Order: sequence, then structure tokens, then C-alpha cells
Amino acid sequence: MKTAVNISVDPKVENWEMLCAAAKRHVEEFLQQAGNIINVAELSQYTTLKLSIGYLFPGTENTLNKVGSFQNIQIIGKRINELWIASKKDDSNTWENELLIHEALKAVITPSVASDDTSSSTRDPLDRKGNPMNFLLPAYETMWRVVMRCLLEIRYRGAENGQAWSRILRDYIDNLQDSGVVSTFRSPGQNGTSALDIVKEALRLYPPSRRIHREFDSGAQRIDIEKIHRSKLLGQDDPLVFRPERWQSIGAEFRPPQVAVDDEVAKTRLRELEEELGFMPFAFRCPAGKGETRGFGWKMIALLVGVISDGLDSDWELKNGGALPQIGTPLASDREAYTDLELKRRT
Ligand code: HEM
Repeated sequence: MKTAVNISVDPKVENWEMLCAAAKRHVEEFLQQAGNIINVAELSQYTTLKLSIGYLFPGTENTLNKVGSFQNIQIIGKRINELWIASKKDDSNTWENELLIHEALKAVITPSVASDDTSSSTRDPLDRKGNPMNFLLPAYETMWRVVMRCLLEIRYRGAENGQAWSRILRDYIDNLQDSGVVSTFRSPGQNGTSALDIVKEALRLYPPSRRIHREFDSGAQRIDIEKIHRSKLLGQDDPLVFRPERWQSIGAEFRPPQVAVDDEVAKTRLRELEEELGFMPFAFRCPAGKGETRGFGWKMIALLVGVISDGLDSDWELKNGGALPQIGTPLASDREAYTDLELKRRT
């Protein structure tokens, strides 16, 4: 499956308070449908996908909440992952034959009332240009995997600072809901670490696009983003460890408290320095990581991890703790990893 269009994140979507409230509803809904066991990947997929559909396809507020939409969203989320994995092994799946996912997409994405969506998208899965997957794939497929890994790191690996990281993300989403102010994204919380540092660390250790390919006049080039992110330049002496605190010592002179949280020059200098060291999770091309909408992808990860972590509270624990590697060893990065991982309700 290849994406055929170039989309940009709609700047109107900068209504973080509404996004946050919607994400909370999606998590509650998922947990209500669950019994005493939940699948972590499915929870991350469901919340990320439903939120992504809501902001990418205006006018779907009603269709997203119709009877049957819970199952439809699960079908779409799961099948995208299966198709992606299958596409790397053989090419026998053809999109035209994926009737189940077509029907699920149409059911949740076709607006029940006329929307003000002025884009040329027909939202028809069989129309090359209007296929909703052109929008959903880049937005959702990357996001849910880093969200799940960040959640596992802060909540379920027994990290010494895990509770502090969860609190920092909780403060971030509480602040979004209270006043819509997003400055706490960069503000140092406990131990000087910010919500942005946690997201940076998740994207450093688990960049969803691990390798990218570019064609130049001189020939094809392949860049191994994951390898670069795990080098000593960014990863210091413990490149394989999830440790958001490391970002405090990278360009410290451009970070609060040395500069004001909203110092734009310092923000740019810090970003340039991090890029020079090889940090490029969005590969300079993704609209969620550049230009006017640069902050979108980063904040979305913090929001989703914060909301899911908060929704789980302390009611759930890993069903099989042994399924995760020893702390200090990174979680597996491949798409199949942890799709069976479950949480059980504490008794
Ligand atoms: C975890 C968050 C995300 C990461 C790490 C990420 C990463 C990337 C990367 C590395 C590329 C370049 C791929 C290549 O050139 O081979 C890319 C492209 C793209 N991303 Fe993202 N992305 C994220 C979220 C999003 C979101 C939320 C959207 C939309 C709402 C989005 C839309 C796109 C689009 C449309 C492209 C293609 C751009 C082009 O080819 O010009 N991404 N993304």
C-alpha cells in the first residue's frame, strides 16, 4: 500500500481541548467494552484511529458514534496492521478485494450530514485519489505504534522515574482541558523533564519510520533513522535505554530555565542542534513535523499517551510481565511486536 497524495494537517485542528476530551471518551468507551482483559495494541489502535478519523474527516462526529462503529474502527485498525505486515512478505493481497475494510471505512467516514470539508476527497476506498487510506495511513500507522511503546515505557517496565513521567503527561493533558494553554508541553516538570522530552525520547528510541528511501540523480539512498537515533551522539552512554532526562543535557543553553519557555529563537536553535546530531523522526517531509503545523505530531503523541495512561489509572497490570524485555533493553520495533500483549484488571 502506497500513499498517493500529499496532505497537510488542518491548522484548525489546533483545538487541543476538544481533541483531548474526544480522546478521553474513546479510551472510556474502549474500557467499557472490555472485560477483565484488554489488548494493549488494540487500545492504542482504537484511540489513535478514532481520534485521527475525527480530525482528518470533518462531519464524522455522528457516524463515528453510530451503533457498530466500535467494531468498524477495530476492523480498520487491525486490518491496516495485518495488511502492512503482509505487504512486506508477499504482494498477494489486493486492496480491491478488501471488502470488509471498505465497508467499515464507508460506515464511519461517510458524513451523515453535508460537511464543510472542501477538500477534493471523495472518501471512496476504490478511488485512487479519494481513498481515505491516503490520509489515514501516514497519520495513524506511525502514531499508534509510538504511542503504545511510550505507554509501555512510562507505565509497564518498572522504570525508576515512570511515575514522574506519567505525572508530567497527566499535568500536560489536565492543562489542555483547563485552559487550552499548551505551554506546559515544553515547561520543565518533575526532575526538569518536560512532556516534550518524553515524546522526543519515544521518537528517538522508537522512530515509527525506521528507514527512509530517497532517489537522487546520483542514485537511491537509504537512511537508517533508527540506527542514527541510537548512536552515541543522541543516545550518549546509554543509547538503548528509554531515558527522557537525557534531553536536558542536549542544548541545555537553549532550554528552560536558561531561556523562556516561549523563546522562539532558542526553540529554533535547539531544533537545529538536535537535527545536526541526527534527530529526524519526521524526516523533514512529514506535515505533522514541519512548517506551520510542526508541533502537531509531537503534541498528539503526548496527548494520546497521557490520556490512555490516565484512563488505565492503576486498575490494570500486565498479564504477562515476562513478555517484555529486561529494562535497559529496547522494546522490539517491528510491527508484529506486542500485538498480543494484554493487561488484566487488578482484583
Ligand atoms: C508519530 C508521528 C509521525 C511520524 C513519526 C511521522 C513520520 C513521517 C516520516 C518519516 C515521513 C517521510 C517518509 C518518507 O519520506 O519516506 C512522513 C511522511 C508523511 N506524513 Fe508523517 N509522521 C507522523 C505523523 C503524521 C500525521 C499525524 C500526519 C497527518 C495528519 C502525517 C502525514 C504525513 C504525510 C502526508 C506524509 C507524506 C509527505 C510527503 O511525501 O511529502 N504524519 N511522516
